[in-house]
Amino acid sequence: MIKNFFLKHGLDLDNLDLEAILASFSMDMTAGLRGEPSSLAMIPSYLSCDVKIPINKPVIVIDAGGTNLRVCTVTFDENGAPKVDHFSKHPMPGTDKEVSGDEFFSLLASYVSPLLPFAENIGFCFSYPCEITPDCDGRLIHWSKQIKAPEVEGKLVGSELSKRLSPLGFKGKITVLNDTVATLIAGVSQGLKKNYSNYVGVILGTGTNTATVIDNCKILKAPSLGSGSMIINMETGNFARLPLSDIDEELHAGTMDPGRYKFEKQISGGYLGQLGLTALKIAAREGLFSNEAQKAILALSTLENKDFDDFCDAPYVNGPLNNLPLTDEDRRAIQEIGRTIYARAAKLSAANIAAGIIASGGGTDPLSPVCVNIDGSTYYKTKTAEFMSRTLEALRSLLEKRNLYYRTICIPDSPVIGAAVAGITR
Ligand code: BGC
Repeated sequence: MIKNFFLKHGLDLDNLDLEAILASFSMDMTAGLRGEPSSLAMIPSYLSCDVKIPINKPVIVIDAGGTNLRVCTVTFDENGAPKVDHFSKHPMPGTDKEVSGDEFFSLLASYVSPLLPFAENIGFCFSYPCEITPDCDGRLIHWSKQIKAPEVEGKLVGSELSKRLSPLGFKGKITVLNDTVATLIAGVSQGLKKNYSNYVGVILGTGTNTATVIDNCKILKAPSLGSGSMIINMETGNFARLPLSDIDEELHAGTMDPGRYKFEKQISGGYLGQLGLTALKIAAREGLFSNEAQKAILALSTLENKDFDDFCDAPYVNGPLNNLPLTDEDRRAIQEIGRTIYARAAKLSAANIAAGIIASGGGTDPLSPVCVNIDGSTYYKTKTAEFMSRTLEALRSLLEKRNLYYRTICIPDSPVIGAAVAGITR
């Protein structure tokens, strides 16, 4: 019954053609690198994998993610091990209520200023689409993850912060980098002794994205880069050449940026709960639940990803869905809807990761695999549909037949570590 429901609405797992999606990824990657219209911005980071970490030199790190904003100092010891001090965590400005540009940067400066006595430079991990300047400042193209601070769009976030910190004595450099770029660099910093042929950084948390390394000669939109290679933020969350079901369309219509970030809205933690609720409501309108459950589901206004995942995993444990008047048949139906949505997200995530590995051109020799550092709670914590193992299974089936070799690794706090390495080495 639920299978027919998804077939009817165009969310059909059996017909999800990952090879076709990878081919579209490849076309959009090439167009993005040429500066032609593309859903993949392929943003040069002006950072490379050539990393040497100074020992015992502290750096301030700002990690502006989808939900939290963390600040701390990081110092690396003689073994390359990071030590985090002066850590504090704040809500990301603009998540709950709208803030002005000035409020945004003043709040940021107020979180960072207590750390100024401890280090000279700042590594600023900014997990949003930013055009990076050759001196590693970042101009916010537009917000993703439903952040409400419209005046920040178009601004150079490093310069704006620097303006507010200079009167407090700050004279150092601010290096702005994407969280996937930071995650990739964290992989480099921990893999210096391994024989990796290349590196990829992946985030699957509130949002999703991949960074890879591309030869400068292929970055045709930036012709004066010279020889070598550069880390590229692919901005895969905005990938748009994939089938959308009418359930996806209904979710998009209710977001602040309906035409954008279609891929992210299918696979990341910031949206999967609400996507689930959208599917549940459509199913309720079509009479797939008992009368009582139907009324209760239609009255729900939000559903967090964690609550949807928890219910699908353990449908009798207390939570917003379990508190509804459900029969066992209702529970089975909700669970199956959840399994389908999370299984699709896992498969699409595999395509996302594979696209980054293929684009890197590495991994053709089993002696030198590509190091794929993956970060993000959605990837590691989602229980439904055996999310992580399903992602890895789909990734293997895409890459084994191409004879590509890779290692997936997990380094706790990768965005912080990578931003520290980038901030300290400039
Ligand atoms: C942002 C990316 C970021 C990703 C993961 C997306 O919403 O646009 O820049 O890398 O989330 O945090």
